[in-house]
Amino acid sequence: MDADTLKQRWDQRHAEAVDLGQVAGVLAENLHLLPATGEALDLACGRGASALQLARAGLRVTAWDLSSVAIGRLSRGAQEQGVPVVAEVRDVIANPPPADRFDIILVSYFLERSLAPALMAALRPGGLLFYQTFSRIAVSNDGPSNPTYRLGDNELLQLFRPLNLRFYREEGRLGDTARGCRDIAMLIGER
Ligand SMILES: C[S@@+](CC[C@H](N)C(=O)[O-])C[C@H]1O[C@@H](n2cnc3c(N)ncnc32)[C@H](O)[C@@H]1O
Repeated sequence: MDADTLKQRWDQRHAEAVDLGQVAGVLAENLHLLPATGEALDLACGRGASALQLARAGLRVTAWDLSSVAIGRLSRGAQEQGVPVVAEVRDVIANPPPADRFDIILVSYFLERSLAPALMAALRPGGLLFYQTFSRIAVSNDGPSNPTYRLGDNELLQLFRPLNLRFYREEGRLGDTARGCRDIAMLIGER
């Protein structure tokens, strides 16, 4: 799919959505790991619920997404909540983040494996990557049907192996599948 078609599809989905989405679980469950100050990036931010959470936590937040509709909704949300977020339309595959730039990078439900080296390099020393997305081993039909866009078993651990692991969760289909953290993998790594 070319970039224009992809953008149109995402614009439509973001226009139809009722709210700004949900704060990523990997962030919501680990707010205590955030520094008191610093620069944060929400990459492929969508309508920006997580970017707003990072701003409410006191960080200076940049948020990038391909969809101008998503960025517009995030900008309006930031104004309404009175928190500063620099929200920009950006193709993060064509224009990945620069090196040594962020203390926090959040990626939620966006999987572009070729970006992994650039994401790790974009962290400042001591910076944290918060990552979550769909896994192939799942208990529901949520998320993309194309397995290319889902993580293999333990794949986040392989993609971000150079980072120091601080948090990881991937429960597969073990035990009582009505409970727990299912369908996704979550990782926090420190550069
Ligand atoms: C499933 S949504 C996730 C949004 C948000 N991170 C969240 O968790 O709610 C995937 C997002 O990736 C964005 N996206 C897709 N390809 C992109 C690209 N090349 N550059 C920037 N954003 C992209 C889409 O516009 C969409 O907002």
